[in-house]
Amino acid sequence: MEIPPRTKLFDFHGILMANYFTDTWEKVQNFKARPDDILIATYPKAGTTWVSYILELLYFGQTAPDRLTSIPIHERVAFLEISDPTMDAGVDLAEKLPSPRLIKTHLPIQLVPKSFSEQNCKIVYVARNAKDNVVSYFHFDSMDVRQPEPGDWNSYLNRFMEGKVVFGSWYDHVNGWWKKKQTYSKLHYMFYEDMIENTEREIDKLCSFLGLSPSIEEKKQIRGEVQFDSMRKNDMLNYSSFPNMDFTISKFMRKGKVGDWKNHFTVAQNEEFDEDYKRKMKDPTLQFRTEI
Ligand code: PPS
Repeated sequence: MEIPPRTKLFDFHGILMANYFTDTWEKVQNFKARPDDILIATYPKAGTTWVSYILELLYFGQTAPDRLTSIPIHERVAFLEISDPTMDAGVDLAEKLPSPRLIKTHLPIQLVPKSFSEQNCKIVYVARNAKDNVVSYFHFDSMDVRQPEPGDWNSYLNRFMEGKVVFGSWYDHVNGWWKKKQTYSKLHYMFYEDMIENTEREIDKLCSFLGLSPSIEEKKQIRGEVQFDSMRKNDMLNYSSFPNMDFTISKFMRKGKVGDWKNHFTVAQNEEFDEDYKRKMKDPTLQFRTEI
């Protein structure tokens, strides 16, 4: 299949977007969530696939294991706002999913369809420290050849700081969802770094939020399956069949670490980033770790 040229960013309700995330906008905004839907919300590259797979194993690992070994994840978890000629639009895929439907979104809180909170749906938000997030996003934008041209690392970093990447500002995203958590009790806010530090503990917290009590055996199995190396090898999870991703440039499951930013940021870039970060991240209750 022919790969379309790299997309151009445009302003969309105050954030920068790509057309394949806005083409079905009317349907997205009118999306009818069901009370048992689970929304997985993230800024891109924060650990969406990781947490999605944990949720899938928790909900379907015992009842429908074949589903997980025979269907790629992008056909099992609906990416709400996507419209891509190579697959079902997210809104259409959602109609075909078994319950509970797992739905992922990268939308900032203000653009999420109202029906999710009207239906009191459970929402899992995953956040990742800005430095590793931007590094991961840079590699992704380099290898996903539909995404806007990333340019060199230095210019990419500057654009990330200005919010000039698809889905807009990381700073606004993590803060917006953090504020939502204060008023919406069905939101579980997780951190990628905590997952790396102690996956088992974070799965336990997730289960208690979801009201699930998997057996010790089941948890052990899940813990094994969601390790980076297992997920990287799993063709149903690693996007290896995606036509628009050039795996000679980078892998979708690239490094899976906290602190890889140190291999990318120069001392000067780091200082400038930290200064800018302090100006933008004013809420002392929202803290990220850039190393563990
Ligand atoms: S996307 O495209 O927004 O859905 O990408 P997303 O899944 O959010 O993020 C991809 C990054 O998550 C890393 N990842 C993991 N890290 C540790 N353990 C596991 N199991 C795991 N699964 C995915 C993936 O490698 C990407 O991060 P980087 O830093 O690029 O390696």
